[in-house]
Amino acid sequence: MSVQPTEWEGVYSEGPWLLTRNLVPGAAVYGEGLVRSGNVEYRRWDANRSKLAAYLKRGGRVWPFSDSTHILYLGAGSGTTASHLSDLCPAGSIVAVELSPRVFRNLLALAERRKNLLPVLGDASRPDMYRSHVNAVDVIYQDVAQREQEEIFAKNLEFLRIGGFGLLMVKARSVDVSADPKAVYTAVRRGLGSRGLEILDLRSLDPFEADHAAIVVRKR
Ligand SMILES: C[S@@+](CC[C@H](N)C(=O)[O-])C[C@H]1O[C@@H](n2cnc3c(N)ncnc32)[C@H](O)[C@@H]1O
Repeated sequence: MSVQPTEWEGVYSEGPWLLTRNLVPGAAVYGEGLVRSGNVEYRRWDANRSKLAAYLKRGGRVWPFSDSTHILYLGAGSGTTASHLSDLCPAGSIVAVELSPRVFRNLLALAERRKNLLPVLGDASRPDMYRSHVNAVDVIYQDVAQREQEEIFAKNLEFLRIGGFGLLMVKARSVDVSADPKAVYTAVRRGLGSRGLEILDLRSLDPFEADHAAIVVRKR
C-alpha cells in the first residue's frame, strides 16, 4: 500500500492507517509501526491510543495544525499524542504540562530527542505555576480526565491568542460517572459557549475512546 497525503496538513495515510512524518527517524515512541516510503519515514498514528487521531477517524474536519503551530498541551501523559504533534509542527512548539511526576519522566525522555517539545511538571488548574514558560499560543489541546475539565480549560484561555483554537477532549465519566455522556458533552459545550467561545465541532470519539468527545472551539 502506498503512502498518501490526507486533507489534514501533515497527516498521511497508508490503507486504514493514519501516519505522521517521523521527526526522529528510526525511533518509535509507544511501539507504533514505522513505515518507509522513498526517503521518508512515517509513524503509524493509532486512533485507539490517541484521541486526536480518533477525532480524525471520526470525521473531524477542524485542523488548526501546520508546521509552525505553537501549542499548549494540558495533560500530556507520557507523550503519545504530543509526539505526533511534535512530528506535525517541526518549526512550532508544544509546551506539554503534566501533573504526575512518574509519567512526566517519560515525557522528559521524549523531549531529549524532540527539541520542539517543552515538558513542564505542573498542574493545569494552576496556570500561575507555568505562566513564565508560555507565550501566546495558536492552539490549546487538553486531555486531563478530571472532574473540572471545563474550568481548567477556561483558566488557560489567557494563553490562547484571539482567533486561536481549543481542542478539549472530554471524558464524560470524569465529569459525572452516572450521567448520560451526551448530556455531559452538551453541558460542557453550553458552558464553553457561555464563556464567549465559538463552538466549531462536538464529536463523539466512540468506539475508539468510549464515553469521550472532542469539542473544538475558537477564541473570538
Ligand atoms: C488521558 S491521560 C493523557 C494522555 C495523553 N493526552 C495522550 O493522548 O497521549 C491524562 C493525563 O492528564 C494528567 N493530568 C490530570 N490532571 C492534570 C492536571 N490538573 N494538570 C496536568 N495534568 C493532569 C494525568 O496525570 C494523565 O497523565
